[in-house]
Amino acid sequence: MGASDETRLSVVIVNVRPGREGDFLAVADRLKETLERQQYCVEVRTIRDEGVDSCFYEVWQWVNADAARRSHADPEVNELITELHRVGLVTHAINGARERSLTETDERRVLIEWNRRAGFDRRIGSAGPQGIERRVLAERRLGPRRQWERTPDILGAARRARENADAQFSHFKVGAALETTEGTIVTGCNIENATYGLTICAERVAMFKALSEGHRGFTRIAVVADTQSPTPPCGACRQILWEFGGNLEVRLANLTAETGTFQLKDLLPFPFDARLLSQP
Ligand code: THU
Repeated sequence: MGASDETRLSVVIVNVRPGREGDFLAVADRLKETLERQQYCVEVRTIRDEGVDSCFYEVWQWVNADAARRSHADPEVNELITELHRVGLVTHAINGARERSLTETDERRVLIEWNRRAGFDRRIGSAGPQGIERRVLAERRLGPRRQWERTPDILGAARRARENADAQFSHFKVGAALETTEGTIVTGCNIENATYGLTICAERVAMFKALSEGHRGFTRIAVVADTQSPTPPCGACRQILWEFGGNLEVRLANLTAETGTFQLKDLLPFPFDARLLSQP
């Protein structure tokens, strides 16, 4: 197997904030320069969406999974990624940089199952730039449902996390599982206390745990409660998820079935966020 067989592809959608296109292009240039110079990537491309001017695709062809992982530990890269999040809303469409070791033993088993079912591990071999574009289009045609099915069992992780909920006052147990851009799953459950008011929801526990462990990019979150109809994140959680996770996919489920999938932007229309702090 040649070295090129190990390459992996990540595609990130960036919806650039109004007036920040110049800043975005400058960050994209610096990212390309860094990722290629440090030999994390074979090739980095920035493609503008044909229909939406402010929408770009960042296409990163990693040398291999290890190079992708090393890039996540590189402060120079992290600074540029943080900058990217400042100039636009960042959504991960394809994540070829998944780590092979997950933090939870159960998830490790699930990942093996996921790879087997997917029958496809994001290798693009010597596909070249045209191949990249073909892959981007093919991936998008699958739609959110199929993409979700390729991921680790995030619903299972949320269900297991729910078992740890401390809901002795409401008896309403909730579990959440947040997926990072590296493919790590960070879970959370709701924790209540005698003052009631200091209760914290499963979603925020998951997000704060992830942030405190150094994760900064997120793709989706699963929320599980024992209800027939969907239990969506509360307003406070929507705000926190939006500010730290961007337009996450929000997958809702109960103990046995999925109850709905949403994009966070639809659950939190007209949001307040850091963009408004920096306007003239
Ligand atoms: N709760 C969550 O953890 N997440 C949600 O999405 C909705 C509500 C918790 C908070 C509280 O402990 C209990 O559910 C009842 O509101």
